[in-house]
Amino acid sequence: MSSETRTQGSKVADGGRDVSRPASALLRLENVWKKYTIGADVVDALRGIDLEVDSGEFTVVSGPSGSGKTTLLNIIGCLDRPTEGRYLFDGVPVASSDFDDLAELRNRKIGFVFQSFNLIPILNCYENVEFPLLVNPRPMSASERRALVMDLLKEVGLERYWKHKPDELSGGQKQRMAVARALVTGPRLVLADEPTANLDTKTAMSIIDLMLELNLEKGTTFLFSTHDHRIVDRARRIIQLTDGRLHV
Ligand SMILES: Nc1ncnc2c1ncn2[C@@H]1O[C@H](COP(=O)(O)OP(=O)(O)OP(=O)(O)O)[C@@H](O)[C@H]1O
Ligand SMILES: [Mg+2]
Repeated sequence: MSSETRTQGSKVADGGRDVSRPASALLRLENVWKKYTIGADVVDALRGIDLEVDSGEFTVVSGPSGSGKTTLLNIIGCLDRPTEGRYLFDGVPVASSDFDDLAELRNRKIGFVFQSFNLIPILNCYENVEFPLLVNPRPMSASERRALVMDLLKEVGLERYWKHKPDELSGGQKQRMAVARALVTGPRLVLADEPTANLDTKTAMSIIDLMLELNLEKGTTFLFSTHDHRIVDRARRIIQLTDGRLHV
């Protein structure tokens, strides 16, 4: 049985090489392994992943607990490196990049949304969304920055809550804030590890629908993990992980 389903686009063939797809995949993993060593024990968290994701795709990584979803997203997000294999982001081999290059790649091209929101409690909604622009300044004036942040807050439905601190907002609103923060630097890729795990089903659906909308509108590539089947159904491409493999 294939590990992958798509309702549109082409299918990655075994070995990750699909001649029908352009050579310019945004992400390309070739035989990626991740081994964790704890004392004498070695855990093979990823076992030879071959995967391509094109720019503009909206993909969910699904699989049971312990199947390697977080490990895979950490590697794709350049938070960790493969033990073996090759990973290319936008055609550039990531494994050979040094620490500073990786941090630069992460800051400029990848936005993150976390299960536990990871918002800064003492900053209000506006300041949380603005924060990545201050840490990683782009050439823009203060008024351009303000317009960008307010536009994003409007897009995620939080315009009137701009003064609210995270603990003055609901779980769904917090995650909307986190989605806006992930997008503020205009990343090529937004990665989200179980972004809906702390939300009720209705709110979870609304967050996924928001990400779908932003994917269509801005063309940003989204890749997120979940083991919630109701959410899996919303994705246009589904990658199934089992015991560190993409094929069962
Ligand atoms: N830092 C680590 N050290 C040792 N083993 C680890 C580490 N991180 C993950 N593992 C192991 O690697 C495997 C994959 O873990 P991972 O967290 O990627 O799974 P997951 O699919 O994200 O699970 P969950 O749905 O519970 O979040 C598991 O067997 C896990 O115990
Ligand atoms: Mg996980």
